[in-house]
Amino acid sequence: MPTAPVRRVPGRLLAPDPGWSTTADVVVVGSGIAGLTAALRLRGQVDKILVVTKDVLAAGSTQWAQGGIAAALGPGDSPEEHEVDTLVAGAGACDAKAVRVLVTEGPEAVRELIALGTNFDHDPDGELSLTREGGHHRDRIAHAGGDATGAEIQRALIAAIEQAPEIEVIQHALAVDLLLADDGGVAGLTLHVMGEGQRDGVGAVHCRAVVLASGGLGQVFSQTTNPSVSTGDGMAVALRAGAVLRDLEFVQFHPTVMYLGPDSHGQQPLISEAVRGEGAVLVDSEGNRFMQGVHELADLAPRDVVAKAIMRRMMETGEPHMWLDATHLGAAFWERRFPTILATCRRYGVDPVTDLIPVAPACHYASGGVHTDLWGRSSVPGLYATGEVACSGVHGANRLASNSLLEGLVFSRRIAQVLPGELRPLQPPAPDTRTAGLVPGAVRRELQEAMTSRVGVLRNAGGLAEAAGILDKLAGVTAETVDQQSWETTNLLTISTALADAAALREETRGSHWREDFPERDDERFSGHLDVVMDDGTTTLELR
Ligand code: SIN
Repeated sequence: MPTAPVRRVPGRLLAPDPGWSTTADVVVVGSGIAGLTAALRLRGQVDKILVVTKDVLAAGSTQWAQGGIAAALGPGDSPEEHEVDTLVAGAGACDAKAVRVLVTEGPEAVRELIALGTNFDHDPDGELSLTREGGHHRDRIAHAGGDATGAEIQRALIAAIEQAPEIEVIQHALAVDLLLADDGGVAGLTLHVMGEGQRDGVGAVHCRAVVLASGGLGQVFSQTTNPSVSTGDGMAVALRAGAVLRDLEFVQFHPTVMYLGPDSHGQQPLISEAVRGEGAVLVDSEGNRFMQGVHELADLAPRDVVAKAIMRRMMETGEPHMWLDATHLGAAFWERRFPTILATCRRYGVDPVTDLIPVAPACHYASGGVHTDLWGRSSVPGLYATGEVACSGVHGANRLASNSLLEGLVFSRRIAQVLPGELRPLQPPAPDTRTAGLVPGAVRRELQEAMTSRVGVLRNAGGLAEAAGILDKLAGVTAETVDQQSWETTNLLTISTALADAAALREETRGSHWREDFPERDDERFSGHLDVVMDDGTTTLELR
């Protein structure tokens, strides 16, 4: 294995000294399914819970989830079968114990979500309606509003939070950095709040534990299904505080993201795998069904297999996208089952009732993140992580469809089981000797383009080295203004640097990590995980 180069990025974010301060027992960073579940389950067990979120409560990725939430809830299904599908998709890189937790606790966790008031879709006979997505051998995806599962879950969770006045919420609050005690554990965090009355600007929250539930890193790439808030903040905050990050190279590219042209940038419309679950098929411009013969599940093969097959066909034909044919579903079915996707396609001038949908892979999900144990504990005392920001080990090298909402739900419940008994005393922060720095928001586009063209679906040593060179150069550009754009861009740079280095070190193809120059899986050299740690802005990578 090549040795990881030494990289320099800011050891902490440059920010003004806190102008206000407050205390809490637990601060939950993020307000999707993971964050709000953690807060609700901690209620009554700890005194003061503060939820902070970078935008409004509903702005994160949960809201955008279409397909649904996977759990062995149907007749004939079992956690064991869900476990097998999850492990197969993960391509030998899952933590088997974490997967077992996910699939065995999943059904009960979903039933609790229903009890909380989430309205999942039901069949005419009154049974929970379950569908299938890529990599699943059973119908086990519960969905809501047809294709608006995340929005319905988010609605139910926000309604529950609104009924819980003991949980304080601060919106428009970016987590800047953790405050660390003498023992290296959590003493609090600094926040930047925009326009919340007395709590405006940078402030310090002194607390006994922090639960990171701040989502993923999709904005590292030029095209992603993730909303604009997904800038890897939680991962970067944890890394700067000394937490171990794991499996960063395993970034999932969703195969069927609507192609809006070469200049389209930022969040792109997802065409849920559930559309293929209902029988839609992928075709090239000549109408050939190119997934046939690639995998026994054809168009419903695991996501990495489909994304790679699309990319291969795009390269063979020189076309910038392939096509999804869902015309056989008919207008009535489209309107009932996929109203959100139907409306989105029509907004972009494509009527999927009669037209093929142009699709191409785009960044969708970070399978890696802050390494946690089976109870959501990170390697920093008092710091927990759950949901996409975490790497609990359930996804391995490639997440199984609709396991993401489930992961946030299950592991947040687990955190709430252990955290109250592990609360640290409130401690003063130790002097922060990390080197502060900031890159300007203006370098974001160049960073995203370097990551997309060289660290995207297809990777090779030359491209990865070029990306590392560009990132090194960008790390040397100093921000002239201290603002949210610069903080987020510095977080993107920090995570991109570690991600690109991990991708260069993993000289094999596994799951969502596709090396053109090492096309085979290499269990002899790479059956372990790549862990990254940082000490005052210097990153180190190790294969464990
Ligand atoms: C989809 O609906 O295709 C996305 C579901 C997921 O990311 O698991």
